[in-house]
Amino acid sequence: MSRLLDANKDMSEAQEELSLRPQTLDEYIGQKDLKRNLKVFIGAALHRDEPLDHSLFYGPPGLGKTTLAYIVANEMHAKIHYVSGPALEKPGDLAAILSNLDKNGGDVIFIDEIHRLPRIVEETLYNAMEDFKFSVVINRDTTARTLTIDLPPFTLIGATTRAGNLSSPLRSRFGICEKLDFYDIDECLQIVRRTAKVFNTTIDDEAALEIAKRSRGTPRIANRLFKRVRDFANYEGQNHITTKNALTALQALKIDELGLDDVDVCYLKTIIERFKGGPVGLETLASATGEEIDNLEDVYEPYLLQIGLINRTPRGRIATDKAYQHLKIKHQTKLF
Ligand code: ADE
Repeated sequence: MSRLLDANKDMSEAQEELSLRPQTLDEYIGQKDLKRNLKVFIGAALHRDEPLDHSLFYGPPGLGKTTLAYIVANEMHAKIHYVSGPALEKPGDLAAILSNLDKNGGDVIFIDEIHRLPRIVEETLYNAMEDFKFSVVINRDTTARTLTIDLPPFTLIGATTRAGNLSSPLRSRFGICEKLDFYDIDECLQIVRRTAKVFNTTIDDEAALEIAKRSRGTPRIANRLFKRVRDFANYEGQNHITTKNALTALQALKIDELGLDDVDVCYLKTIIERFKGGPVGLETLASATGEEIDNLEDVYEPYLLQIGLINRTPRGRIATDKAYQHLKIKHQTKLF
């Protein structure tokens, strides 16, 4: 077997993904305040021998909302049932999950992208969350009646990139509501080092720092970049990642010093060059760049706002001076 295959022979990609997930709050890097709160809430619920209150985690994609849900279930010694919001098309889909809960109570139901839950399913969830009762209407004609089933107590964990899109009746039923923030460079560095260890790979300090700096404060991106950089080392038959590997890979992937990719640069250049620095509306920007509105709003803009390259105004997006400097574009003097 070649050294390249040998280095990776133990793990398939899917296993790799799973093995990267921390299992406990102590292993989880970053989100200090959130972790401190959750430790108290989990410890107290365990002490009372009750399920944890329903919990909502929100924030940009890739920051670890799903990972946290699995950690909560693990720390509560509970079984987790995963489902994505849009997959629950009708109340019967929710019934299928609820009827599978452990009779003794305590299970966790994790609904990812909970803002995409159809209204009709959301409404049946209210009663389930509040009173642990599930009501179904049978015979939707003249003999229609409602059948109500008692449920074992459970914890609902919802994850969303758009807390603002949740209806207020749903949001108010979560006793715990926590926002995930972007990670700082040191936290991303710790994640890269941990990932290298999980993959039995060694990495130069400078290489790890380069990956961390370009990870957009997002563990999922840190891990993705790490794997691509590792490919460059493995391709040369090495299981040690040098700074040269990291810089070559990041350049080949067109990830710049701030972690911006082609789409970010196109987005910023569109504001600056086609719309004189803005303000420009999101819909106009989406059609000018050929990107989906939701993708720009959920994936790209949060980081550009966070690092101060754009601002949002009531009249649209504007590029900041920092964006001009970063792209090395001179400000055009505005005549009007
Ligand atoms: N992998 C992905 N996110 C992580 C985190 N927050 N801590 C540790 N490992 C991670």
